[in-house]
Amino acid sequence: MTDLSMTPTVKNDTPLLTVEHLTMRFGGLVAVNDVSFTARNSEITAIIGPNGAGKTTLFNCITGFYSPTVGRMTLRHPDGKEFLLERMPGYRISQQASVARTFQNIRLFGGMSVLENLMVAQHNKLIKASGFSIAGLLGLPSYTNVERESVELAKYWLDRVRLLEFADWEAGNLPYGAQRRLEIARAMCTEPVMLCLDEPAAGLNPRESADLAEILTFIRDDHKTGVLLIEHDMSVVMTISDHVVVLDYGRKISDGDPHFVKNDPAVIRAYLGEEEGEELPPEIAADLPEVAKRAEEGA
Ligand SMILES: Nc1ncnc2c1ncn2[C@@H]1O[C@H](COP(=O)(O)OP(=O)(O)O)[C@@H](O)[C@H]1O
Ligand SMILES: [Mg+2]
Repeated sequence: MTDLSMTPTVKNDTPLLTVEHLTMRFGGLVAVNDVSFTARNSEITAIIGPNGAGKTTLFNCITGFYSPTVGRMTLRHPDGKEFLLERMPGYRISQQASVARTFQNIRLFGGMSVLENLMVAQHNKLIKASGFSIAGLLGLPSYTNVERESVELAKYWLDRVRLLEFADWEAGNLPYGAQRRLEIARAMCTEPVMLCLDEPAAGLNPRESADLAEILTFIRDDHKTGVLLIEHDMSVVMTISDHVVVLDYGRKISDGDPHFVKNDPAVIRAYLGEEEGEELPPEIAADLPEVAKRAEEGA
């Protein structure tokens, strides 16, 4: 369980990702404005903020979909290898820097089976083992070994996300929540050092959100993978995150452990300032009277 006490728990001193002064402009609009933060190995770092705050844009910069206007993003692998992400195209960020991501909207191969989706994710490893030749594909032992390992890895993750019995189903026929879990399994089959998830709990019921939280803590604790999580569901964020970064209008307005962030008057103001109809996250709403009083008193 995440420690919710006032003292931030530092589990690992090695930064996995260091983002420095990241700015992304679209014409006159500054979607991400001078944002700096650090994400660590074996930690879940949540990026939260109202709609349009710049969360997805930040992910798109980290994963190479966009080239940031200004800023540095350094990824350090546990073996010490460093990658300057702002200089790398997206495919190298996934293949060489080992950063995997899921999207705000599900992007599975709907017509392929569940297992095939996980094999496609391991395509690079399989092609390499084939020696880039037909001979390889026709059954060289090195290829068949890698293929067997790939199936084993796929089955391992299907089991973890409770989809093993659906391995032969067409991915597009799975219920929505199961597709969300399959996306995470697919990302983990690439054996990433950092997993980036864009609103994985969107559209899930409370039971499915709890399952998701369990999968993410397993990924952190048993695989020591750093998780970067954009999420609106505050019950998920506040329970499993080690570290929360809050964006509003492209700027970072708060950064700390969940307890610190949910009591930060700047965060409360940002959520209160949302358009009518936007719901205040319950965890924040619960503490609101006390926090509003402190904000008034200028604490
Ligand atoms: N490709 C783009 N071109 C122009 N504006 C964009 C683009 N992507 C995002 N934006 C704008 O940047 C701002 C931040 O968007 P986004 O990162 O999607 O926010 P969030 O994910 O926090 O809801 C919004 O005002 C959005 O309209
Ligand atoms: Mg978004």
